[in-house]
Amino acid sequence: MLGAPGSGKGTQSEAISERYQITKVATGDLLRAEVANGTPLGLQAKAIMEAGELVSDEIILGMIAEHLAEDDTSNGFLLDGFPRTLRQAVALDAMLHKFHLSLHAALFFDVDYGEIMKRLLARHRSDDTEQTIRHRLEVYEAQTAPVIDHYQQQGILCTVQGTGDINEISSRIFVVLDEILANINRALASRQGRG
Ligand code: AP5
Repeated sequence: MLGAPGSGKGTQSEAISERYQITKVATGDLLRAEVANGTPLGLQAKAIMEAGELVSDEIILGMIAEHLAEDDTSNGFLLDGFPRTLRQAVALDAMLHKFHLSLHAALFFDVDYGEIMKRLLARHRSDDTEQTIRHRLEVYEAQTAPVIDHYQQQGILCTVQGTGDINEISSRIFVVLDEILANINRALASRQGRG
């Protein structure tokens, strides 16, 4: 799930993981749980998150490796808010190769910044102040937007128009994912037929 802060990644990832019964790994949620539990990692991450900066690639990659190794990915998995830098994206490619996993879609949520500002100012999370939202958007432009090209080049980028009714957006995503799943199943069936 790729997109600017407030573009709807968290909202739609809930709907996707519920419908397809797949494991969801959301780096923002994992970091907020560390902060709430007062762990050393949480203490380190708290100020960074409240400033709208990115937590270090090392910390994030460690969290992702742990979840991909331990969580049940047999039915598929969904990554929300990760990768967020090109370095994370390249490291993810290597990690997936090691675990014999692959990505079938990178969903990019296209939402204009005026709408994002309205949504986040209405939410009251601690990093949702006007100044921090502006900074998160700058960080997104500089560090995360290049990740979109990475998946465009891999041929798996799907752009989702992220404004409008939440359920209608979910329905549009399900059409895209159903098609991808059908293709995967067809490829598996033909491989089994050949074997
Ligand atoms: P993270 O938790 O990932 O936050 P974010 O990317 O800033 O995204 P948000 O949760 O704000 O928005 P969203 O796109 O999920 O939208 P949502 O569905 O919530 O990361 C937080 C921080 O953790 C980062 O700043 C960074 O410090 C750190 N971090 C996390 N991952 C990292 C990584 N990989 N590397 C380094 N650091 C990392 O929706 C937003 C609001 O809009 C909600 O109120 C929702 O109800 C509403 N809404 C959703 N859809 C609609 C709609 N269609 N119409 C109207 N309202 C809507």
